Amino acid sequence: MRIIDFYDRHPISEGQVLDAVRRARGSADALTADDLYPFDQDHYGGLGAVDALARRAGITAASRVLDICAGLGGPARFLASRRGCRVVGVELNPGRAAGMERLTRRVGLRHAVSVVRGDATALPFGAGRFDACVSQEALLHVADKAAVLTEARRVLVAGGRLAFSDWIAHPGLGDVERARLEDWMAAVTLQSLDGYRALLGRVGFRGVEAEDLTDEWRAILRERLTMYRALREDTVRRLGEARYREYDALYAFFVGLVEAGKLGGGRFSGTR
Ligand SMILES: C[S@@+](CC[C@H](N)C(=O)[O-])C[C@H]1O[C@@H](n2cnc3c(N)ncnc32)[C@H](O)[C@@H]1O
Repeated sequence: MRIIDFYDRHPISEGQVLDAVRRARGSADALTADDLYPFDQDHYGGLGAVDALARRAGITAASRVLDICAGLGGPARFLASRRGCRVVGVELNPGRAAGMERLTRRVGLRHAVSVVRGDATALPFGAGRFDACVSQEALLHVADKAAVLTEARRVLVAGGRLAFSDWIAHPGLGDVERARLEDWMAAVTLQSLDGYRALLGRVGFRGVEAEDLTDEWRAILRERLTMYRALREDTVRRLGEARYREYDALYAFFVGLVEAGKLGGGRFSGTR
């Protein structure tokens, strides 16, 4: 499956996060969640972006939160440690799900954060299990976005909140560019801001809000390209020179589309 392969050969991984922590503090012993934050957030805008979603999702200490496509668990651990809530992450990639489990145990947050390996289009939870669902920079990989949003609504209690961010397509994005994004980054069926707004309404969310983050993301993504380039030595050691070059080319292509205003980001929320 292309999406599994993409994250199996991604410059960010559990091993890379721990190596970065070791370099920053001299050892990876007796870690707290705070030690991981500079390295374990695989989305745009870091902890500020998680906080913004948490506000939109109305997350409090009493919330039962589902992080859909949780990756290595950085946002889930941040929400649990800062807001005092309980978070379950659902993640498709076996290596990332196992990595989330281990990193969470390592920082002593297993009482508040857990992970289930599963598919966002068929959430392995009963109806009304959560007060809030969040997701960051992941639905771009899911062809059937209506299925994910329908599932998120099903697992929310009445009055529960969904808040997520994702790539959005702007009118200039051409078919050849879309095909390349699918081929290189497993990015499929990209929605426009209005397309997502309509989809959220169609699956039954009320009070839908959609914010365009494209201007904000332009600078963030330029920095992220620089960050990936700074990981060159690490990436070559882990994944080889060819993968470093391939990833560099695909990421530069992606950032170029954002610079050109053809691609961007959106933050969405709605109530069940
Ligand atoms: C860019 S990462 C974001 C991870 C995390 N949200 C974060 O901000 O650190 C996207 C994640 O979505 C996961 N993913 C993609 N498709 C999925 C699906 N259908 N179900 C569950 N997880 C999925 C990928 O394996 C990957 O870990």
